[in-house]
Amino acid sequence: MSANLTSVAYIGAIILFILSLGGLSHPESARRGNLYGIVGMILAVVATVLGPQVTAAGLPWIVVALAIGAVVGLYAAKKVKMTQMPELVALMHSLVGLAACLVGFASYIDPAQAFSGAEKALHELEIYVGIYIGAVTFSGSLVAFGKLSGKLSGKPVLLPARHWINGIAAVVVIYYGYAFLQAENIAAGMTPLAVMTVIGLLFGIHMVMAIGGADMPVVVSMLNSYSGWAAAATGFMLGNDLLIVVGALVGSSGAILSYIMCRAMNRRFLAVIAGGFGTEGGKAAAAAGGLAGEVNPISAQETAELLREAKKVIIVPGYGMAVAQAQHVVSEISRLLRDKGVDVRFAIHPVAGRMPGHMNVLLAEAKVPYDIVFEMEEINDEFPEADVALIIGANDIVNPAAQEVPDSPIAGMPVLEVWKAKTSIVMKRSMASGYAGVDNPLFYKDNNRMLFGDAKKTLEEVLAALKS
Ligand code: TAP
Repeated sequence: MSANLTSVAYIGAIILFILSLGGLSHPESARRGNLYGIVGMILAVVATVLGPQVTAAGLPWIVVALAIGAVVGLYAAKKVKMTQMPELVALMHSLVGLAACLVGFASYIDPAQAFSGAEKALHELEIYVGIYIGAVTFSGSLVAFGKLSGKLSGKPVLLPARHWINGIAAVVVIYYGYAFLQAENIAAGMTPLAVMTVIGLLFGIHMVMAIGGADMPVVVSMLNSYSGWAAAATGFMLGNDLLIVVGALVGSSGAILSYIMCRAMNRRFLAVIAGGFGTEGGKAAAAAGGLAGEVNPISAQETAELLREAKKVIIVPGYGMAVAQAQHVVSEISRLLRDKGVDVRFAIHPVAGRMPGHMNVLLAEAKVPYDIVFEMEEINDEFPEADVALIIGANDIVNPAAQEVPDSPIAGMPVLEVWKAKTSIVMKRSMASGYAGVDNPLFYKDNNRMLFGDAKKTLEEVLAALKS
């Protein structure tokens, strides 16, 4: 394939990726967005593999690598459960970071082109920065994977004088960057490069370890952004325009998502990155059980009765709905109630579940109409008018401690004000806390009822009672 044709294919792929991002911004157009992304990626891979940068000798290697990658990817995608998606995404981010590191070292040791003067300095700067971003993304994403999958504790791990450690590490990275650019030959440049890589890896671990459970959404989207910048850096190192543009698209959309997540959590971005939020989580979690009082249990039949008599019902889905895979039953219940003339609405908190848009995906899969699904800002004022707020496997996102307990780790986080409904019904299996490890005073409120059990099983009982 000629260089011109490759460029045309790249422009086509870039347009498809932009259309894909546009499509993914709304559940209704998300399928189409995905399709654009798939076609764009096929076009990009084919144009690159057949393009002028790949030699005949290199082609078989690339084909073998593609085949291995495709098999592993297909296997992972088929095997992963919906609830494990965030972990898979974190793992994939780590691979982008690793790729940036490897490409960086490879293009330093064996540059495709001979550079000199300012061009050489610029190329080496790209390598240095690219490897650093790659290293932070790689190790940070692995720790995020550990935290999201429960293999590592969600509590923040804070080193004493961590800000000093970060500051000193930044100075050392800049110093070695200078030494790297001054290096006479490749052998001399390897030491600063290796030291910086180790610092980048340690910084990635330190940064994500220091972030508390409730702030993980910001980290997930931030690592998403980093993986984009790592890909863009790889593009600079390889002189590949497509990778630069796509990396910048992912990097900036991830940054916007991080901003949205910060707003959803009412956190300052820099404060989250500096870590330590949720530290008091240890205190709150240790005081678990500190919340004393009676809770009012309710049965599936009684729940069905309340729903049947209600004029307005707001359903709040959370992570537990995803675990129980209860979205289809919920959808059927909402259909049945609407057929009976009940005004049923869904309220979605921006960090419900374990990944951005988690609940929207599940409800769309269960064919809940989009026009009854509302974002938190749109619906929060409507709880006082609701007869029943039905909370399905949600906990942190409906925790009034965010407003009522000033030293709570989630203090200030906007939450769905379900306790303002005439009756709130929390469906979960036990009195356990949610992801942030914080006790929930909602359970003890006078107008709250607890419907204990697996969400899917209990909802099936509610549905049966509604039908009878
Ligand atoms: P959580 O606060 O994690 O609460 C989920 C609740 O579901 C748990 O308390 C659990 O209680 C219940 N549950 C689990 N399995 C269940 C089942 N089979 N049937 C019924 N209930 C079940 O979830 P949330 O309210 O959606 O809040 C999300 C949390 O995750 C926030 O803290 C957020 O910061 C964090 N987070 C979000 C993201 C993104 S991007 N959305 C990423 C990382 C972390 P039982 O064990 O008693 O059943």
